[in-house]
Amino acid sequence: MTQASQTASGWWVKEDSFSPNDYRKQESLMALSNGYLSLRGSFEEESIKLGHAGTYLNGLYEFHPLQYGEKYTGYPEQSQVMINLPDPKSVNLSINGHTFSLDEGKILEFERYLDIKTASLARHIVWESPSGDQVNIESIRFVSATYKHLACLQYKVTALNFSGAITLTSAIALDRQNLTREQDPRVGVNFEDASWRISETHQHHQLLQVHGSTTLSKLKFRCTLANELGGLKTINTAFEQTAQALCLVGKGQIQAGETLTLTKYMWYDRYEMENPVAQVESIQALGFEALKAEHEAWWAKSWEQMDISIDGAEPMQQAIRFNMFHLTQAVGKDGYTNISAKGMTGEGYEGHYFWDTEIYMIPFFVYTNPHIAKQLLLFRYNTLDKARERALELGHKQGALYPWRTINGYECSAYYPAGTAQYHINADIAYAIRLYYLVTGDKLFMESYGFEMLLELSKLWMDLGVFDPEKAGAFCIQEVTGPDEYTCLVNNNMYTNAMVKSQMAFTLQCFDLGLQLSPSTQALAENFDRALAQRIIERMFLPYSERLKIHAQDDSFLSRPVWDIANTPRNKFPLLMHYHPLTLYRHQVCKQADVVLAELLLSDQFSLEQKKRDFDYYAKITTHDSSLSTCIYGILACELGDMEQSYQYYIKTARTDLDDFHHNAKDGIHAANMAGSWMGIVYGFAGLRWQQDTPVFNPALPPAWTGYRFTVQIHDMSLQVSVQADQVEYALLTGSHLTLKHKDQAFTLTQGQAKVMQ
Ligand code: BGC
Repeated sequence: MTQASQTASGWWVKEDSFSPNDYRKQESLMALSNGYLSLRGSFEEESIKLGHAGTYLNGLYEFHPLQYGEKYTGYPEQSQVMINLPDPKSVNLSINGHTFSLDEGKILEFERYLDIKTASLARHIVWESPSGDQVNIESIRFVSATYKHLACLQYKVTALNFSGAITLTSAIALDRQNLTREQDPRVGVNFEDASWRISETHQHHQLLQVHGSTTLSKLKFRCTLANELGGLKTINTAFEQTAQALCLVGKGQIQAGETLTLTKYMWYDRYEMENPVAQVESIQALGFEALKAEHEAWWAKSWEQMDISIDGAEPMQQAIRFNMFHLTQAVGKDGYTNISAKGMTGEGYEGHYFWDTEIYMIPFFVYTNPHIAKQLLLFRYNTLDKARERALELGHKQGALYPWRTINGYECSAYYPAGTAQYHINADIAYAIRLYYLVTGDKLFMESYGFEMLLELSKLWMDLGVFDPEKAGAFCIQEVTGPDEYTCLVNNNMYTNAMVKSQMAFTLQCFDLGLQLSPSTQALAENFDRALAQRIIERMFLPYSERLKIHAQDDSFLSRPVWDIANTPRNKFPLLMHYHPLTLYRHQVCKQADVVLAELLLSDQFSLEQKKRDFDYYAKITTHDSSLSTCIYGILACELGDMEQSYQYYIKTARTDLDDFHHNAKDGIHAANMAGSWMGIVYGFAGLRWQQDTPVFNPALPPAWTGYRFTVQIHDMSLQVSVQADQVEYALLTGSHLTLKHKDQAFTLTQGQAKVMQ
């Protein structure tokens, strides 16, 4: 499928012709998930061997031993890898002895569409077998938003011009495996042994079940598949089992005009329940249509809370909805799982969770579905003990150090310069706690979880940093890596230091919130050295060049030669795939926003003139090889009044996956960037910032648009903001009263009230 045929429309991603070359990318884009169970958007038919079919459970991983030529203390022993499980959506069709595949016969009609609004994937095919028999095949599936263990699929075959034998097989495919490592460090692992094994299989009426567990991590899973076959006068069913699949085979005679329908209720659990068979049977009794209606109602409610409408730019409208859809479906919603960098749409980055969650995705959830944002923070709370353990392992005497990348809470990064050394993860988590509290006012969260985390996060910096006599006693943080992964192991990364300063200030503020603490958090608070925290705030070192009047990304950054981006051939990007890391580290070249990101997140701490100088300098040396970058530059460009440049960044951000700008959507979507496209509108064009406790908007309209409208949740209230060329309307849809600012004009809205500002 070509990009052009991906019809621009707000609610659809559509293919109207079949292109094998784009198939693997489309599997990612059309993946469906509910944050627990995920199915890549592969065709159902086992006979079509293309791409990489994937079935994943959030938080279900296999250990993968990490190999080092030289291994030192504190290197993680093993990684956790999200694994590709048995595939319950598998189907095979044959008519009059011919199996439907792409190698035989002809595709006469093809259409596939991802319905973003209802989170379902439908396909229409008319196939002619080598002997001229034509069938119409309609399939539709969804991963239930209301029953997290459930996915449903309906597959309908209509005989168009013949009567004859039909065989429709429904299977749980057992031959799935993870991708093996390709020439890209960002994708795949080579497991020596199978990552999982099947321990039991069962067949019962029209139901199939497999029990299995991962080989090294010993995590159990169970897949139960209930089938319904209907529409023909008689259909005979039989079970078959091979090493590749557990199957229910249905055979019958179909008459021209008749339709055979297979409905599959696919249920995955991790032994959370006694009897999944009874569960599936009771769910099945509700029927496909009722389950689909419930699923759609959940999505309708979510769209009410989060939708953004854009007038005058269809491709951007499609992109923002597509991005919000992926984020909402991918996120773990139980406090024990998180959101993978690739959103469980592919195996890139092994399914790991990164700082992407706190700095990019939590803002989206805080403002659209704060309950989910809380679950993401609870994931960090639930892994706090592991972070405490990790801090000790790395030689710190106190505090907690969160892993750079993880699934279960333990560090997985094998390459420490661009992994473990990114200590800013701690400050990122603290930042997300502060944002969550600011936007929701959820004091109970702070009492039960937030403050305890903040104290531990802050104690770590007290242990790590030093008041450096060489820098007039300024507080310095040595040997860390900031967000920019093309500059590693530096002293005083500006982003890290600025974020730590803000974290310390917030930690101290929390002492004055009157929090009711548990005895253990109370004890922690009493032992916290507030005077030291205060001194750190006052003396935090932020590297600055008097010569250039800009912030230096770190102590030695500006002493390095500047990388000649303009004369680097296009085929050498991303640079990480073509140059030794040291070559990159020795130059002034950035993979992604670093100083500029700090100036967005801590917006009120830097003057506009300073931001402009920093922006202009770093924009020239940033490659945006990381997808976490253009959104941040776009927002800053807007704040600096350069709408033209901002919009160019925005296009790159919003359509990163739909247009595959990074050429790797086949391995999964870029979830942080997707959240960045939401920030691009709300923080960028609408200019949302906070002045103390007041949200402030400073809206602008991209010239290509005639208007846009979005809703944000603030303190349990729903605020709708509609921006047009000559006016902005603020409406309080729910909630008693909210004080906000339009530029420098403050006003209060009461429930149902709207105010138009010029
Ligand atoms: C970026 C990191 C990011 C990771 C996962 C890398 O390319 O440099 O900042 O956390 O991808 O998205």
